[in-house]
Amino acid sequence: MTSEPRDAPYPELKKTHTMAAKGRPWTDRKPPPAAPVWAAIEGLGRYYILVAALELDVFDTLKETGPTTAEALAEKLDVPAVQLATLLDGVVALGLLDQFADVYELNDTAKRYLVSDGPATMADLVPVAPGPHQNWTRLADTIRNGTPAAPIEDDPAAFYVPLVEGTFTTMFRCAGRADLKIRYSALEQPHVLDLGAGGAPWSIAILTACTRGTAVINDLPGVIDVAAAKTSEHGVADRCDLRPGDFHTIDIEDEAYDIAVLGHVCRTEGAEGARHLIERAFRALKPQGRLLLADYFTDVERKFNPHAVIMGATMMASTKKGSTFTHQQFSEWLRDAGFAHIRLIEPIGFQQCFVAVRP
Ligand SMILES: C[S@@+](CC[C@H](N)C(=O)[O-])C[C@H]1O[C@@H](n2cnc3c(N)ncnc32)[C@H](O)[C@@H]1O
Repeated sequence: MTSEPRDAPYPELKKTHTMAAKGRPWTDRKPPPAAPVWAAIEGLGRYYILVAALELDVFDTLKETGPTTAEALAEKLDVPAVQLATLLDGVVALGLLDQFADVYELNDTAKRYLVSDGPATMADLVPVAPGPHQNWTRLADTIRNGTPAAPIEDDPAAFYVPLVEGTFTTMFRCAGRADLKIRYSALEQPHVLDLGAGGAPWSIAILTACTRGTAVINDLPGVIDVAAAKTSEHGVADRCDLRPGDFHTIDIEDEAYDIAVLGHVCRTEGAEGARHLIERAFRALKPQGRLLLADYFTDVERKFNPHAVIMGATMMASTKKGSTFTHQQFSEWLRDAGFAHIRLIEPIGFQQCFVAVRP
């Protein structure tokens, strides 16, 4: 009995099925979908739907009312019901509200991130996170000219005050969770240097855990007022020394600190500026002192972490020298400055932080 010649178990892997024999799947045989182009176009609408819902107080009001119709919500918000219903359907399409028949209600994402007193609220961050909105409409010019027409450095306090107020909740949660990885709470009396501290989430988390700890907190004049308010709100102001000024030039004591923090400050500074901050932190630390360097890092091929890649474009759109850098670049800069025992932690999702020790 002759048996049929057996085919390969995976015919799609045979040489006759390669691109060379069959053509490139999309280009030569079937047009590719337009979905990625539509996703980019809709990005603008998606963002402004969310901004409008926050501005109109949709999430906070739904928290107050519970599940409700567009008509009832419109009456409470004093806006026309037809337009509100269109907006609410948009928010549902974004996955940020639930809807059944005519009734809308908060889903878990909205309760956590979009209600103004949610446990991880981003309500104040959403409007400011992309930087000044008009800079996006001039992105091609920014690329032609090599710099934005209205960089945030022209009026840093106007941009950074609302930004650091908006990021505080997330960064404070990140700084608190970092203790599980690096145990700063085991330090007796740490002295902390926090450069470009914003609302000082890192210093506040460390000083709250270490009741004899102290901190030198730096930011630009005008922005440092946010740190003053937050440190006093959290009851640690009496252990903080506020040092306003440019972090590249302010006086910093040598070998005086147990922890130095560079929290989301490097990506506006360009490679040279970031390296300078790392070197300043190194000199400021005591032997065995640790640098905490938090930022959005791209992978070595600059394409597997779209969040960080888009953050690079965001920096370019609104700052003179901003961009994101790879993990590898930061590791090399840390090593070049003299740091050892370099590791990367991710205390909460999407928030990574290098930890490096001055030997
Ligand atoms: C993205 S915020 C980060 C705030 C805080 N470190 C955190 O992790 O939440 C960047 C901060 O750096 C500050 N900054 C920018 N340029 C600075 C400079 N040249 N000197 C001091 N602070 C600066 C800004 O005012 C802002 O507060």
